[in-house]
Amino acid sequence: MKKYIIVAADEKNGIGKNGLLPWKLKKDMEFFQQMTLKTEDNKKKNAVIMGSNTWISIPEKHRPLKDRLNIVLSKNRDFKAEKAEVAFSLDDSLKIAEMRKDVENVFFIGGANIYKQVLENIELTGIYLTRVRGDFKCDAFFPEIPKEYKFKNSLGKENDGRIEYEFLFYERK
Ligand SMILES: NC(=O)c1ccc[n+]([C@@H]2O[C@H](COP(=O)([O-])OP(=O)(O)OC[C@H]3O[C@@H](n4cnc5c(N)ncnc54)[C@H](OP(=O)(O)O)[C@@H]3O)[C@@H](O)[C@H]2O)c1
Repeated sequence: MKKYIIVAADEKNGIGKNGLLPWKLKKDMEFFQQMTLKTEDNKKKNAVIMGSNTWISIPEKHRPLKDRLNIVLSKNRDFKAEKAEVAFSLDDSLKIAEMRKDVENVFFIGGANIYKQVLENIELTGIYLTRVRGDFKCDAFFPEIPKEYKFKNSLGKENDGRIEYEFLFYERK
């Protein structure tokens, strides 16, 4: 099972503001959908693992993220996420994904708290980073990419209104 982080960060590594995304980038949303939905085996799907704050930040009508196994991390034993699995530790979340024979890849989709723990504790296949030009005065940040991950390639550039961004892929060496 391959494991990835997927994230969009500005030039200061900012990823969120007031509990929400600091921007609305249509092509980045499409990229996120495409990468997290895509499987080699069309009988399988991917899992998306997220913190409870990120789950809550997704508008109710869009959650769970469709055609993916949604796993929400919380330390609160009473936490409920409708039509999603709840996991109480990172290990738990991976076990849930591994137990399901129909899961191909796992994507950690945020937020700041989860990204930090994943980079410290899990050997990923790689990181999909959308680098957004500018400083969006964020209050949630992506950590520095650890040196074990090397920039591999750019998957393209986009321009939404006045905001420029590029899809970068980092691979674990
Ligand atoms: N730009 C991007 O790509 C991107 C992607 C995702 C999110 N974001 C942004 O990031 C911000 C949210 O980030 P955040 O750091 O506040 O929250 P978060 O990482 O989404 O969620 C943190 C919560 O996850 C639970 N948790 C954390 N570690 C856990 C563990 N080891 N085991 C079990 N549960 C665990 C805890 O939930 P309980 O409190 O319930 O115990 C914790 O309060 C928002 O602004 C959001 O829009 C940006």
